[in-house]
Amino acid sequence: MRTTLSRPGVDGLDAAAGALRAWQDEGVPWQLHPGDIGWFRRFGAEATAAAVRTWSRDGRILAVGLLDGPRLLRLTTAPDARRDEELARVLAEDLGDPGRGVLPEGTAYAEVPADALLHDALTGNGWGTDESWTPLRRDLAEPVGDPGVRVEVAGPEHAEVRAAVQRAAFDNSSFTPDRWHAMAAGPLYTDARCLVARDARGEAVAVVTVWSAGPGRPGLLEPMGVAREHRGHGYGRAITVAAAGALRRMGASSAVVSTPSSNTAAVATYRSAGFEQQPETRDRRRDP
Ligand SMILES: CC(C)(COP(=O)(O)OP(=O)(O)OC[C@H]1O[C@@H](n2cnc3c(N)ncnc32)[C@H](O)[C@@H]1OP(=O)(O)O)[C@@H](O)C(=O)NCCC(=O)NCCS
Repeated sequence: MRTTLSRPGVDGLDAAAGALRAWQDEGVPWQLHPGDIGWFRRFGAEATAAAVRTWSRDGRILAVGLLDGPRLLRLTTAPDARRDEELARVLAEDLGDPGRGVLPEGTAYAEVPADALLHDALTGNGWGTDESWTPLRRDLAEPVGDPGVRVEVAGPEHAEVRAAVQRAAFDNSSFTPDRWHAMAAGPLYTDARCLVARDARGEAVAVVTVWSAGPGRPGLLEPMGVAREHRGHGYGRAITVAAAGALRRMGASSAVVSTPSSNTAAVATYRSAGFEQQPETRDRRRDP
């Protein structure tokens, strides 16, 4: 049977996330994580469903993509299907043809796991490369030390402050308490925690959201940031250490994150918090 593309809809999101969860494993190169869908869920269930694509064969999901912006598809496949020729060909066709409803006409971008045969198919179809990303990983076999600052798990009563620090950390952030509640209402948030770090005066200075993919699997940090006026005091390091500790308590085998290589402050912060740099990855880019 041929691999076919579908839009899972709201009812199919659990299956797509379940596939992503099962594919998270130590030793698998950087890839889309169920937490990425969990974080996207701040825009609501309908918007999330509209942004997800799945590819299946014989009733099994082989690839999941998230349109993390109208022109960027972040895609991963079952680890045992990375070298599958038919899947690579179908994916390349679907990503290349605006009529398939995956990527629009004009310039478009794709994140693809480093070991996927799809890279060759995209190159063959004229795709180039784009921005460099640096994945980082902290092993969680050993206990994680104390972050050294006050850190609390943000519940519904902290939605306001969680959202405010997000906006103070990220340019152009549209995060609001309503979006926090939309995210927390999603099924994936069961495996997530938002953490807020406070300075000695009790002011909220840094935030992170961590996403477990289940015990024994890598857990994701997405996003992490420090309010502009509080940078350079070790809060980025502290909230990242706290994130690793939270993931360890949730049973994760490692904590993973990826940031643009150009974001030298973020790379330095993750390294400072005990994360090790992994081989750089490159987004793929198609121009008209
Ligand atoms: C990245 C960010 C979290 C750093 O926060 P911070 O509180 O200033 O970082 P810290 O003070 O804890 O510094 C941690 C380490 O990074 C280094 N660092 C911080 N900013 C740096 C910069 N601009 N250039 C180089 N190194 C930097 C520090 O020297 C420190 O290293 P050390 O422990 O080896 O001395 C903050 O700049 C931020 O929120 N940026 C916007 C959001 C973002 O990019 N998030 C990460 C993307 S996933």
